Amino acid sequence: MPDVLYINGRFTTTDERVLGVEDRGFLFGDAVYEVFKFLRKTPIFLAGHWRRLERGLRAIEIPLPWDESSFASTMRDLLERTACDDGIVYIEVSRGEAARTHFYSDDMKPTAIAYSRRYTFPDAAKKARGIRMITQRDVRWRHCDVKSVNLLPNAMAKKAAQRAGVDEALLVDDGLVREGASSNLFAVLDGRVVTHPLDEHILPGVTRDHAIALARGRGIPVDERVIAVNELHSASEIFVTATTLGVMPVVQIDGRACGGGTRGPLTTDLQRALDDAESREVAGG
Ligand code: PDD
Repeated sequence: MPDVLYINGRFTTTDERVLGVEDRGFLFGDAVYEVFKFLRKTPIFLAGHWRRLERGLRAIEIPLPWDESSFASTMRDLLERTACDDGIVYIEVSRGEAARTHFYSDDMKPTAIAYSRRYTFPDAAKKARGIRMITQRDVRWRHCDVKSVNLLPNAMAKKAAQRAGVDEALLVDDGLVREGASSNLFAVLDGRVVTHPLDEHILPGVTRDHAIALARGRGIPVDERVIAVNELHSASEIFVTATTLGVMPVVQIDGRACGGGTRGPLTTDLQRALDDAESREVAGG
């Protein structure tokens, strides 16, 4: 079944072929993207996704196709037209279409698309079981804080994980843990929740922000510092966060049990707290 598609101010469906072959998103990866979750047709943590999209567009000098309120109303219009109640919206804004040359002109008109898609979020059993990871060398570009569509290293790391029969790749840079191929990583070390600081090495995850705030709100100390890969052996719990996963325990890395090999109490508590925060978003409309 086709999904509802927004493109440059109008609505159609994903059946329609809408992009020119010389769109710079396709030719140069000259674009940023967002993925947000919706439950009962209500966007979850939309303000955080907008802030990151706006920051990324400014960082790579693509004119903003929306302001915050036209963005929110466009997304709500999209969800009104969407057949399913729960799912994800994928948004991409590219620099636009022009004859292929590396130089881009300053007056290009961006291509803005967004489409909704049904999505099955992890159920209670999966959230209890957790995921397994393998480490992969982080060979990404040096601006991982921009959610650009240059995802070839992420896609290849993810494929390696799939071939190894696990769920996610942990990107490691010279012995330092950065993040998952599509998630942020947290470790519980000596009773403290530790995660990579916000800098150019990681994506500033919207779920990461919420997990940190929820942990701090419970009186659990959170340190934003770089974790060495060999520290992971002594972590009492490890989990990753992402829009599509929520808070997800990690029970094995490179074939070795980690974080006690099962979901820990702090992870369970944060899963519940995040579910509650999402329910509040739905209740608040
Ligand atoms: N990815 N780090 C990377 C490299 C990611 O691609 C993602 C999410 C995250 C988590 O960010 P957030 O909590 O805002 O979803 C961290 C999305 C889900 C994707 O590419 O599909």
